[in-house]
Amino acid sequence: MRLAVNIDHFATLREARKATEPEPVLVALLAEQAGAHGIVCHIRTDRRHIKERDLRLLRDAVKTKLNVEMAATEEMKKIALEIGPDVVSLVPERPEELTTEGGLKVAANRKVLGPHIKALGKAGIRTSIFIDTNLDEIAAARELGVDLIEVNTGKYADFKEGRAREKALEAVRKAAEFGHKIGLEVHGGHGLDYRNVGPIVAIPEISELSIGFSIVARAAVVGIERAVWEMLDLL
Ligand code: PXP
Repeated sequence: MRLAVNIDHFATLREARKATEPEPVLVALLAEQAGAHGIVCHIRTDRRHIKERDLRLLRDAVKTKLNVEMAATEEMKKIALEIGPDVVSLVPERPEELTTEGGLKVAANRKVLGPHIKALGKAGIRTSIFIDTNLDEIAAARELGVDLIEVNTGKYADFKEGRAREKALEAVRKAAEFGHKIGLEVHGGHGLDYRNVGPIVAIPEISELSIGFSIVARAAVVGIERAVWEMLDLL
């Protein structure tokens, strides 16, 4: 299982003081040196953490794989085409949300998403869609020509134990099996931490996990390299 480290919250810390530290690109390089297989960040419409400058520096420095999360808007498409990340992950965005709240509604947004994905593909950028466990939505993503999907593990992560958690895990498993069967590369992410990642790692169709908050929080205590090593051990 590959690990992609989301570094947004190092930029959140920087923005808490509108300062110049910590420098996300430095953290990205340390995470790569510790063995991370990719670096993820989310450029939001309100620029609350990652900014264009960060993307330019990250594009220049990241040697593994740069995956930039963004909304499917014209503004963001322009940024993607300028920066040229390896992967663009299309996510829904609500201005007031603390973090991404769920998967993108694919079938309902076909008309916007189709040309968007095509334009990115033409520029050699692979497209991912962050998606809930609904199989019809996954089939719609495949029809639109995405290269991969990231199955939302947020619901599973919200439940600490019990029947509801088992059900949410089963839904992630079924979504991953289905996505893989119809020819998509399947990733997972959201809400994963050192305690809950195990059952997700055990799903063979998922080849990569995108993990941010828990690694950043642990890094604040033990340093980014050790935080990445500890997660890689679990993966
Ligand atoms: N995947 C997507 C699409 C996300 O938006 C986020 C949060 O930015 C993550 C994964 C990582 O989630 P977390 O920070 O809870 O690990």
